[in-house]
Amino acid sequence: MRTIIEPFRIKVVEPIRMTSREERAALIRQAGYNPFRLKAEHVLIDLLTDSGTGAMSTHQWAGVMEGDESYAGARSFFRFEEAVRGIFGHTHVIPTHQGRASERLLCRAVVKAGDVIPGNTHFDTTRANIEDTGAEARDMVIPEGLDPDLDHPFKGNIDLADLERCIAEVGRERVPFVLITVTNNSGGGQPVSMANLRGTRAICERFHIPLLLDAARFAENAFFIKLREPGYADKSPREIACEMFALSDGAVMSMKKDAFGNIGGVISLNSDEWAEKIRTALILTEGFITYGGLAGRDLEALAIGIEEILDEEYLKYRIASTAYVGNHLAQAGVPLLKPIGGHAVYINGRRFCDHLTDDKFPGWALSVALYEHVGVRACEIGNVMFGTQDRATGAWKWPALDLVRLAIPRRVYTQSHMDYVVEGITELYQHRREIRGLRFVHRPAVLPHFTATFELV
Ligand code: F0G
Repeated sequence: MRTIIEPFRIKVVEPIRMTSREERAALIRQAGYNPFRLKAEHVLIDLLTDSGTGAMSTHQWAGVMEGDESYAGARSFFRFEEAVRGIFGHTHVIPTHQGRASERLLCRAVVKAGDVIPGNTHFDTTRANIEDTGAEARDMVIPEGLDPDLDHPFKGNIDLADLERCIAEVGRERVPFVLITVTNNSGGGQPVSMANLRGTRAICERFHIPLLLDAARFAENAFFIKLREPGYADKSPREIACEMFALSDGAVMSMKKDAFGNIGGVISLNSDEWAEKIRTALILTEGFITYGGLAGRDLEALAIGIEEILDEEYLKYRIASTAYVGNHLAQAGVPLLKPIGGHAVYINGRRFCDHLTDDKFPGWALSVALYEHVGVRACEIGNVMFGTQDRATGAWKWPALDLVRLAIPRRVYTQSHMDYVVEGITELYQHRREIRGLRFVHRPAVLPHFTATFELV
């Protein structure tokens, strides 16, 4: 059989409220042409993020009822610790409320002003937490990773020569750790190969620098290794994931992705010294060391979710269903970032709206038109999110890519939802020259995309 089906059936449903095009036109105008400002109930298919938006399984919901809400030493914590340690393999398992809390605690504990943290591509909250300590987050993905049209199996790989040069240049005492993000979300959800992790490990060992993983989408990365890297076809996703983590000294993770959590995060470490510092800070701001800002029921759901995510049938469906959307759009001529990522499809906004100049925000304009046309909410990762203006001259500097991300929540939408998305975007592509550009009405100084307002030009 060639057809890959959703490896689950649906027991609980959440109605989608239908809206007309006229209604949506009014709603997005009232939202200042910012999809983040829409009410979620006015969205038909929400592809804003795959973070915390997944559907939990019957086992996870049963786990919720089993949650032990004791303040200290809850049974749910020990289940969580065992599940995480069983895959990650590090000595210390510290729960947090989400990925950025893990990043903040790690950075405050071990990073100081003037340090440099090399990585493939740091996610924006990771970068912000590194920079908040006065350190520099330095991205050094392989050059292939920056070319949206190039097909390459592991576009998330770090450039090993750049890494070596960077450490030699700044000195190992100013590099507290190297951080590899799997999969590389900011670079298009692209995987990192085991060979590249091994190469990174070798460099880190030579300089005595710990190697950490940002493991938000570790299971998708493991499955890409199985599909694409010689020697891994017969290994299970779990074996591959364990091998990835065995090359690391620790990890931070947003468990809102590859642990099927609606909330949750973790820091996993071998260093006793770092763990001690982090636990002290955890108590100050997150909660006691056995719950870290989560309820017992959350810990329980995450312990089950992190096992479920490694199910090969699920991963097969996950990667195939994301590729399904991408391949159909590509066939219709829609310009995409290649190859299709694990959790999302990225549309090349500049090329889709090639009649709009950068200052009219082609990617953002596409995301607005997509909502208005078919009620699908996507996320611009481009000119609005990363564009910067020179204070003195007023000149804008635009990012290398102006993308629109269709992030696919886990186990939430069926194939017909995705057919609707494909049909809608294809139709829009045929009328793309009618998409109007925008300009800022209000641009907040920090993270403008979340709350900015616009008008049509
Ligand atoms: N690291 C990566 C690779 C991420 O993708 C995210 C979140 C985080 C860290 C931060 O985790 O949200 O739990 O605090 N990514 C979401 C997204 C927000 O839409 O890609 P968090």
